[in-house]
Amino acid sequence: MPESTQQDAIALLKQDHRTVEELFAQFEKASGEGRKQKLAEQICLELSVHATIEEEIFYPACEGKIEEDLLKEAYVEHDGAKVLIAEIQSGDGQTDEFFDAKVKVLQEQIEHHVEEEEKRLEGMFSQARKAGLDMEALGQQLAQRKAELLETYKSTGIPTPQLTTMDATPA
Ligand SMILES: [Fe+2]
Ligand SMILES: [Fe+2]
Repeated sequence: MPESTQQDAIALLKQDHRTVEELFAQFEKASGEGRKQKLAEQICLELSVHATIEEEIFYPACEGKIEEDLLKEAYVEHDGAKVLIAEIQSGDGQTDEFFDAKVKVLQEQIEHHVEEEEKRLEGMFSQARKAGLDMEALGQQLAQRKAELLETYKSTGIPTPQLTTMDATPA
């Protein structure tokens, strides 16, 4: 890929956010179980890949460079979303009367999470930019890992999300 078309880390992550927002908007307008099921699958795929590349690459790079609380909350918010993603992946509108509600609540949680990442001045991305992270290099790593994961998930299916900060249900 020529240098000029490569995205820096923040541009890539923001573009993922826009993609998922668009899919949620389509889900809201969609009628017909087949169409909704397809959109829900796409949402789960996009979010699973996005959360994984953030947790493997971007968040660790932020460690020690941005507000610690903000970073910790981001991991917990991801886990909250993963619980819903796993639920949505394993059901559909026919078998789960809460299916649409789960997609809606996931959308609301993601909106909040994206706001925390993108907020001007004190958001995670602004803090990371100010801390001088190498966004070009990170962008390259994110893009490469994203491509790998997309390929894997498309051939083997999306794995059940692994929680980072909590047990599914505490003993
Ligand atoms: Fe994100
Ligand atoms: Fe995130």
